[in-house]
Amino acid sequence: MSRIVYVNGQYLPEAEATVSIFDRGFLMADGVYEVTSVLDGKLIDFAGHSVRLARSLKELDMAAPCSDEDLLEIHRGLVARNDVTDGMIYLQVTRGNPGDRDFAFPDPETTKPTLVMFTQSKPGMAESPMAKTGIKVISIEDIRWGRRDIKTVQLLYPSMGKMMAKKAGADDAWMVEDGHVTEGTSNNAYIVKNGRIITRQLSHEILHGITRAAVLRFAKEAQMVVEERPFTIEEAKQADEAFFTSASAFVMPVVEIDGASLGGGTPGPVAKRLREIYLEESRKTAI
Ligand code: PDD
Repeated sequence: MSRIVYVNGQYLPEAEATVSIFDRGFLMADGVYEVTSVLDGKLIDFAGHSVRLARSLKELDMAAPCSDEDLLEIHRGLVARNDVTDGMIYLQVTRGNPGDRDFAFPDPETTKPTLVMFTQSKPGMAESPMAKTGIKVISIEDIRWGRRDIKTVQLLYPSMGKMMAKKAGADDAWMVEDGHVTEGTSNNAYIVKNGRIITRQLSHEILHGITRAAVLRFAKEAQMVVEERPFTIEEAKQADEAFFTSASAFVMPVVEIDGASLGGGTPGPVAKRLREIYLEESRKTAI
């Protein structure tokens, strides 16, 4: 069955979906995106993702392609048309196609944003084998731009980071700036020491993860201590546990950092517990 995708008001088989070569997303990486997970055919934390999308658009002076109600309807339309039980919905909004290449932003009255959405089916994604074994990360320098809080489609360096990790026999890279971990290539980073969960505070330096917000809320509700501050790779290597969070991996234990194994090389109790709580609570509020 061909996947049905959404482009500017139309549901189409993926082979028939097109975007102009003059689209600013393609020419300038002038676009933002969201990734929302689907479990049991329902959207996890849709409200969080739509609030962050609105913020990303506002920060870049970009027009919203449609209302939140329409966005929800399209998300649901794609889940239904592609029969997605578990997986992700990818959404991308760009500043559109001005019909030519120009560094200056086009007039929003005449150039409408481009909205593209598609599904990625991942049956059983909540039972990922990697969540049981944990993953390995390497550290790399963070050379991305200074507004990482805006979820833009400038993903070249994170892609390069992922390839550096693969080449080193690891699964992902944690990026380091001024001696402190910012975040993973596509996730927020955490360590656990003496029962305290430590993760970098929100700023322009990191993406304000929707999963991060939920996990920290659940951790506090479960009386766990959360410390929001930067940490170094050395501190991480000495930690009792490490993990990361993202909409596509939920809570993922990290068992090795730059070759040093953590917690005897197996996922720790805090990461395991947070993953359980996150999945349980998120399923309850999925829509
Ligand atoms: N990535 N930090 C970065 C740089 C990210 O790209 C992501 C998400 C996160 C976690 O945010 P959230 O919890 O809202 O997913 C943090 C998505 C999943 C992606 O690019 O596929």
